[in-house]
Amino acid sequence: MKPLGTLRLGVNIDHVATVRNARGSAYPDPVRAALLAEEAGADGITAHLREDRRHISDADIDGLMAALKTPLNFEMAATPEMQAIALRHRPHAVCLVPERREERTTEGGLEVAREENRLAHFIAPLRDVGCRVSIFIAADQKQIEAAHRIGAQVIELHTGAYCDFHSEGHFDKRDAELVRLREMAAFAHSLGLEVHAGHGLTYETVGAIAAFPEVMELNIGHFLIGEAIFRGLSPAIAEMRRLMVEARD
Ligand code: PXP
Repeated sequence: MKPLGTLRLGVNIDHVATVRNARGSAYPDPVRAALLAEEAGADGITAHLREDRRHISDADIDGLMAALKTPLNFEMAATPEMQAIALRHRPHAVCLVPERREERTTEGGLEVAREENRLAHFIAPLRDVGCRVSIFIAADQKQIEAAHRIGAQVIELHTGAYCDFHSEGHFDKRDAELVRLREMAAFAHSLGLEVHAGHGLTYETVGAIAAFPEVMELNIGHFLIGEAIFRGLSPAIAEMRRLMVEARD
């Protein structure tokens, strides 16, 4: 199967804010990083406003909404506070993610099937104001069906387990996870959902996911911000883009 279209790259700038917040200073500024990422060819910017504001702040979201030329993918937990913020800003996309205070990063996908009714009511007003609603989920048929039933337009497949198996050298498990991700990307597409993917992707792991014909967008942050220390943000993004295009072809 040929790819369904050009693969977009969303650059997640959360960890620019992590570095800033480590010292409670005003720099480095995530909005400046986002503008640089746009210049380097990012198709969109992703930012996660966590309930504990450990990295991105409310002021960062204000700044991004005012300054970005590309779409903002606003990641958030499905809470009334975050819904009110999203309704005020009306970003291009809202990506619902699970959030636990004790976790270091978003560890699993959202449990849509267990909370179908609540989530259907939660996303309706976001859709009404024109946000594209995306749900960050594991490659699990039950969750994908539930995301479809509640009216999400997009699912983002969690690639964290695949990337962890790769970096730990568990290649059999990695390959099994890759098969599951590929099957579930095709399944989600067959339901009419747009398919995105992300979490933990690096230069080594991006190609296999970029090659899935149904995947239309990758959201990548931590590795790129880390790599920027060594080669600069623009070259780090350019190399990721090169690898995505190469895999897609
Ligand atoms: N997609 C989602 C839904 C996420 O929560 C994150 C992490 O914030 C990412 C993509 C990017 O993951 P990473 O920073 O590991 O590239």
